Amino acid sequence: MKVTVVGTGYVGLVTGACLSEMGNHVMCLDLDERKIRILNEGGIPIHEPGLDVIVKRNVAAGRLQFTTDVAAAVAHGTIQFIGVGTPPDEDGSADLQYVLAAATSIGRLMTDYKVIVDKSTVPVGTADKVRAAVKAALAARGRGDMDFAVVSNPEFLKEGAAVEDCMRPDRIVIGADDERAVLLMRSLYTPFMRNHDRMQVMDVKSAEFTKYAANAMLATRISFMNELALLAERVGADIEAVRKGIGTDPRIGTHFLYPGTGYGGSCFPKDVKALIHTGRENGMHLSILQAVEDVNERQKQVLVNKIVAAFGENLAGRSFALWGLAFKPNTDDMREAPSRVVIEALASRGATIRAYDPVAMPEAARVLEGTPGLSFVGSQSEALAGADALVIVTEWKEFRNPDFDSIKATLKQPLIFDGRNLYDPKLMAMLGIDYRAIGRAA
Ligand SMILES: NC(=O)c1ccc[n+]([C@@H]2O[C@H](COP(=O)([O-])OP(=O)(O)OC[C@H]3O[C@@H](n4cnc5c(N)ncnc54)[C@H](O)[C@@H]3O)[C@@H](O)[C@H]2O)c1
Repeated sequence: MKVTVVGTGYVGLVTGACLSEMGNHVMCLDLDERKIRILNEGGIPIHEPGLDVIVKRNVAAGRLQFTTDVAAAVAHGTIQFIGVGTPPDEDGSADLQYVLAAATSIGRLMTDYKVIVDKSTVPVGTADKVRAAVKAALAARGRGDMDFAVVSNPEFLKEGAAVEDCMRPDRIVIGADDERAVLLMRSLYTPFMRNHDRMQVMDVKSAEFTKYAANAMLATRISFMNELALLAERVGADIEAVRKGIGTDPRIGTHFLYPGTGYGGSCFPKDVKALIHTGRENGMHLSILQAVEDVNERQKQVLVNKIVAAFGENLAGRSFALWGLAFKPNTDDMREAPSRVVIEALASRGATIRAYDPVAMPEAARVLEGTPGLSFVGSQSEALAGADALVIVTEWKEFRNPDFDSIKATLKQPLIFDGRNLYDPKLMAMLGIDYRAIGRAA
C-alpha cells in the first residue's frame, strides 16, 4: 500500500519504517528540514534501538522516502497518518495546532480518496475537528464533495523499545465509523498480527480516550509507588521488598511499579495534564489524576532534597558526578527528563556537575545549553573524579554493576544518591558506601 506519514519524529519515523518493512511504500513528511536532511544523508535523528537497520534497508529497497514536500506527500499515500506533536498548552490542554495544520494541508492538496489517521495522542473529539478542517479546506477549493475518512489509531509504542513494540504490538486500536477505512486499516496491519488478531475496532471517541486512559493508568502506578516509597522511608520499610511483595499478585503485576525520581518523557506529563483538562472542560475534577500529578511534582525533587539534606542549601564549591541524562534508558529523549530538574537545582545552588550518559549527551547539551557548572564527560569514571558524590538518574544497564572499589577510590567520599534503586543497600553498607536510594530505610 502507499502510505504517507506526516511528522517524522519518534512516532512517525518508527511507524513509517516498520510499515515499509512490511512491503508498503512509505513517504515520511516533516517540515523540519534538518531532520529530513539527516535522514536523506543516511543518518537517524533520534536514538532508537534497531531503527537504523530497518530505515537503511527500506530506503535502499526504495520503499521508504523522506521529504519536506507537502504536495508530494499528500499525493503519495491513500493512507495519511498524522503523527505530529501535541504539546501541552498553557492550561494543560493538548495543543492541536500541528494536527489541524496537517489536516488542512491534506484537504488543500488531496485529489482522491484518503484515509486520514490520527496517530498523535489527541483528546476526545479531535477526529471531528480534523474532519472539519479537511472539509473546510476542500470546500475552499470548491471540492467539498470529495470523499475521505478520518480514523483514530493511537500509538502505544515505548521509546527505547519502539521498533519492537511497533513490529509486535500488544493491540492495535482503530476508532472508525467507515467500513472502507476499517478494511484498509485491517489490511495495512494484518502483517503485524499473523499469529492472532490484535485489532480492536471501536468508535472514534473511545479510541481517542483509550490512549489517555492507558497513560493515565501507568502514571498512576508510578505515583502510587513513589508516594508509598516516601512512607516506607519514614516507617523503616524497604519499598523494593514491598514492590516484589505486591507485584507477584497477578491482579497487580510487576510492570510500572518502580519507585524513582518521578515520571518524565514526552507523554505521561502532558497526557495526564490533558486528561485533567478534559475533565475540567466537562465539569469534572479528576481527583485521582490530580493527585498523580501532584505526587509526581513532589517526587521530582526527592533526589535534590536528599542532596540538600546532606550538604546544605549552599552547594558552591561542591561537585557531583551524574550518571544518566535521558528520561529513561535506550533513548536520547530529554523531554521532561528528571535529570533536568536535578541539574538545574544543583547548578542554581552553585554546584558543578560532570554528567555522563551513553547516548543522550548531544541532546542534553542542546537542551541544557548555558547551564552554569555543567559539563559532559566521555565515561562513567571520568564523571566520578574528585566529585563529592555520585547521583544516578537513569537506569542504563551499564550502571547496574559498576566497579564499586573504583567508585570509592575516585569520589571524595563514598556517597551515592540513587534515584533508581539499582544497588543492594546491604552490599553498599558492607562496602562502606553511604547509599541513599528511594524508599529504602537505612
Ligand atoms: N514519543 C512517544 O513515545 C509517543 C508514544 C505514543 C504516542 N506519542 C504521540 O505521538 C505524537 C508525536 O510524538 P513524537 O514524540 O513523535 O513527537 P516529535 O516531536 O518527535 O515529532 C513530531 C514531528 O512532527 C513534525 N511536524 C509538526 N508539524 C508538522 C506538519 N504540519 N507537517 C509535517 N511535520 C510536522 C515536527 O517537526 C516533528 O518532527 C504526540 O501526539 C505524542 O503524544 C508519542
